[in-house]
Amino acid sequence: MKKLFLSLLLLPMMATAGNVKSPNGNIEVKFSTDQTGRPVYEMTYKGKAVVKPSHLGLELAKDKHASKGMSETDLMDGFKITNEEITSFDETWQPVWGETKDIRNHYNELAATLEQPATNRTILIRFRVYDDGIGFRYEFPQQKELNYFLIKEERSEFAMAGDHKAWWLPGDYDTQEQMTQETKLSEIRKRFREAVNWGNSSVAVFSETGVQTSLQMKSDDGLYINIHEAACLDYATMHLELVDADTEHLSEKLMGGSNAYTPDPKPSPYPLPAVFTFVSHLTPDATGLKGAMQTPCETPWRTVMVSDDARDMLSNNLILNLNEPCKLDDTSWIHPTKYCGVWWEMIVGRGTWHYTNDFPSIKLDQIDWSKVKPNGTHKANNENVKRYIDFAAKNGLDQVLVEGWNVGWEDWANMWKRDVFDFVTPYPDFDLKMLNDYAHSKGVKILMHHETSSSTQNYERHIKEAYELMNKYGYDAVKTGYVGDIIPRGDHHYSQSMNNHYLYVIQEAAKHHIMVNSHEATRPTGICRTYPNLVGGESARGTEYEAFGGSNPDHTCILPFTRLQGGPMDYTPGIFLTKLSEWSNNTSWARITIAGSLALYLTMYSPLQMAADLPENYEKYDDAFQFIRDVACDWDDSRYIEAEPGDYITVARKAKGTDNWFVGGKCDENGHKVNLKLDFLDKGRKYDCTIYADAKDAHYETNAQAYTITKKVVTAKDVLKLTEAPGGGFAISLIAQ
Ligand code: NOJ
Ligand code: CA
Repeated sequence: MKKLFLSLLLLPMMATAGNVKSPNGNIEVKFSTDQTGRPVYEMTYKGKAVVKPSHLGLELAKDKHASKGMSETDLMDGFKITNEEITSFDETWQPVWGETKDIRNHYNELAATLEQPATNRTILIRFRVYDDGIGFRYEFPQQKELNYFLIKEERSEFAMAGDHKAWWLPGDYDTQEQMTQETKLSEIRKRFREAVNWGNSSVAVFSETGVQTSLQMKSDDGLYINIHEAACLDYATMHLELVDADTEHLSEKLMGGSNAYTPDPKPSPYPLPAVFTFVSHLTPDATGLKGAMQTPCETPWRTVMVSDDARDMLSNNLILNLNEPCKLDDTSWIHPTKYCGVWWEMIVGRGTWHYTNDFPSIKLDQIDWSKVKPNGTHKANNENVKRYIDFAAKNGLDQVLVEGWNVGWEDWANMWKRDVFDFVTPYPDFDLKMLNDYAHSKGVKILMHHETSSSTQNYERHIKEAYELMNKYGYDAVKTGYVGDIIPRGDHHYSQSMNNHYLYVIQEAAKHHIMVNSHEATRPTGICRTYPNLVGGESARGTEYEAFGGSNPDHTCILPFTRLQGGPMDYTPGIFLTKLSEWSNNTSWARITIAGSLALYLTMYSPLQMAADLPENYEKYDDAFQFIRDVACDWDDSRYIEAEPGDYITVARKAKGTDNWFVGGKCDENGHKVNLKLDFLDKGRKYDCTIYADAKDAHYETNAQAYTITKKVVTAKDVLKLTEAPGGGFAISLIAQ
C-alpha cells in the first residue's frame, strides 16, 4: 500500500485539488486561487489550522525604464493555475559540520504553475511539505514578458489562527540587537517603542507591528509555530508586519531611526487581510525599492515550522534542507574552532582598539605611524597578544582573535567615512609576522578581524589584498563587522544589495580558504549548508551587551528558537567574572551563573565557540574552566531532552568521531529542576561523568560564582537529579571508559 502511494507521488499529476500532505500526513497544505485570481494557501497540523487561508503575490514598482522591457504590472491577481505537480523527495546528507552527522531531507512537493493571461506572464509557486513544517517560494522563469522587474513589496501572508504568544524583536532594517519581547500578538503595538534598541549605532524601524524573523510563537492550544526564511540569496531580508485591530494600512515608509528617509510611496491598493495576519515586508535599498530581479530567478523560501513539542523547533532541519547542497569542492580546510580573544577587555572599556589619542581625525595615507605617540591603552600589542596565545596554547584553544591590530580605529565609527581601514597595515606595536610565527610555533592560529564600519565599498576594494595577507601569514578565519549605518549612504544592512555583499565576502573568502564569522550582518537563512565556510555570525544581541547594561537571563533560552534557526551564532559565551566592576570601571554585569555560562557551549550550538573572558579571570576558576577545555564543538548526534521557549533548554550531544557525550541545561530567571535520564548512552557501557552544577545558594544576581563539581561513574540506566539556579544551568561531560 505504502509503496503504491509513493510511486504515485513520484509521477507528476494533473491535480485540480492542489493539496499536499507531509510524508507522515501530519501537515497538509491546500493551494488555490480566489475569485480575483489571487493565489491562496492554507496549512494545517494534525487537523488544526496553522496558517488560515492567506494570499501570496508581489507588487511591482514602476520604473523609468519600463518602455525598455521592465515589467511593472503586479504579480498579485488575475492568475489561473495551469499545472500542478506533486512529487516526493527523500535523501540523507552529511553536513561539513553540524549538530548531527546525518540530516534527512524528506518532503512532498507541490509545484503550481500560474499564468496571468492579461500580461502573458507565468510564475511558479513551489511548496515543500515536511513532517515538521513547510517552505514555499516564488519562481520566475525567463520569458518574453518577464525579464527584469523591480519589487515594490512582496505580499506573502501568514494568517494566524489566534492571538498567539510571540517571542519577537522589533522589525528593523539595520539592527537585530534588541531584547526579545514575549507578548500576545495583540500586544505588539503597545510594547513596540520600548522594545526598539534606539541606542544602537544604526536603527531603522518601519511599523509599530513590524517584527523580525525567525519569529517563534505558541498557540493557546499548545502548537509551537515558527516563521522564518531559507536561502535568502540575491534578495532582501524579510520582516513581518502584523495586521492587528488598529491597522489602517500596511506600512510603506520608515517610522524612525538614525537613518530615516522617506521615499514617496503609494499605499497598497489591495485589501487589508484579517486581524492576526502577518504580511511580508522586505528591507529596502537606498532608493526605497525592495528588489531588482532578472529572470530566471526565485525568492527565498518562506518557512513555517510547527509542532506540538517544543523540542522539534530545535531539532528541526527544515531551513538547512531548503538550501542548496554544498557548492565548495574542497571543504577539508573548514574546521570547528574554539578561540579566545583580545576582545572582552576592550568591550568592557578597560582598553582600546585605537593606538593613539593624538589626532582629531585620521587619513590613512597621511600618517607615519612610527612617529605617532601611543596612548598606552592599545590592547592589540605584542606583549598582550602573546599572553593570549600562551593561554590558548596551554588550554587547547585553537585560535586567538585580535581586534584593533590594524590602523584606523581612531575614528572608525559613525563618521560617514569611506576609507576607514585598509585591512593590511598593522599598528606599530603589533608585529604581524612575529606574532603569527609565535602562535604557530605553539599550535595556535590568530583569528583575523575586519571591522568594515559598514563601509562596504571600501571593504570590497581591499578584500583580495586583505585575504592574500591572511594567506601569507597563515590565518584561516576572519571575523567581519558592520557597525553603523551603511556606506554608500542610505542603504540598509538587510537589503538585497547588502545581502549580495555578504555573499560576495563568503565566496571570496572560500576562494582563499578562509572561514567567515560576520557580526552585524543579516540574520542567517541556512546558507551555511551551501557555503560551509560561513561558520558563524552574530546578527542578534550577543554577550557584548552584558557590558552594555546586560541582557535578560532568559535571552539564551529564546535565541535557539529564533536567531539560531538560520545558522550558528557567535554568541561569545563564557563570562565567569560577571560583575564587571570587580575588575574594570564598567558597572554593567552579566546575568548568568558560571554553570549557566558552561551550559551555553551546548545549548547555543555553534562550530565556532569563544571563551570570551580574560585569561586571568579563568585562572581564578580553573576547575570550572576544565569544561571549556574539554567540550567539543562538532557533533555526531544531538538529542533535545526538554525545551520551552524563554524557560529552559536541555540538550545532550555526542562529540564527533568519539563515544563521549556532553550535556548542557540552561534556564531563565526562575531556576529549573531536571531529572536527566542518561538513556541516550550506550547500553552496558561505563562513563566517567563530571557534573558542573550551580551550588545550592547560586543566583545570577547575587552569587554567580557558586558552583559544584561532582565526579562519578555512570551508565545508561542512571538518572541525574539536577537543580539549576535562577539564571543558571549545568554542564556535564560523559567520557566513555
Ligand atoms: C561589534 C561586534 O559585535 C564586536 O564583537 C566587535 O568587537 C566590535 N563591533 C568592533 O568591531
Ligand atoms: Ca554587535
